[in-house]
Amino acid sequence: MIKASELTWDDVIRVGAGTLGGNYLRSFWWPMALSDEVKDIPVPVKLLGEELVLFRDLSGELVLLGAHCSHRRASLEYGIIEENGIRCAYHGWCYDRRGKVIDRPAEPIKTAPAAAAQIRRARAGWLPSR
Ligand code: FES
Repeated sequence: MIKASELTWDDVIRVGAGTLGGNYLRSFWWPMALSDEVKDIPVPVKLLGEELVLFRDLSGELVLLGAHCSHRRASLEYGIIEENGIRCAYHGWCYDRRGKVIDRPAEPIKTAPAAAAQIRRARAGWLPSR
């Protein structure tokens, strides 16, 4: 536990991911959008310095992911919503609700063990949403 007297100005004003202030603020629920605003296209959202994308997948579940594809950083704002996630509109990588890559159309997941490990590591940032 850090005492208030030990905090620096930077600890208080920096709210990016991985910072002291950012970790503290991320422990609370934040209103991101009205439920009525989240329909059949992804909604770009910016919170605490992070660019995010909010959407309701085809099964009706709300999903909040980092706004950029982990492949070439294309915006998932233009992604195609699927049953259990979203597909990047650029090269077609598909992310599940937690941002894990579940499909790479041009490079099948079963091709090589090294490629499979790389796919397991690749993910878009994910935040819990409801
Ligand atoms: S940039 Fe998203 S799949 Fe290539």
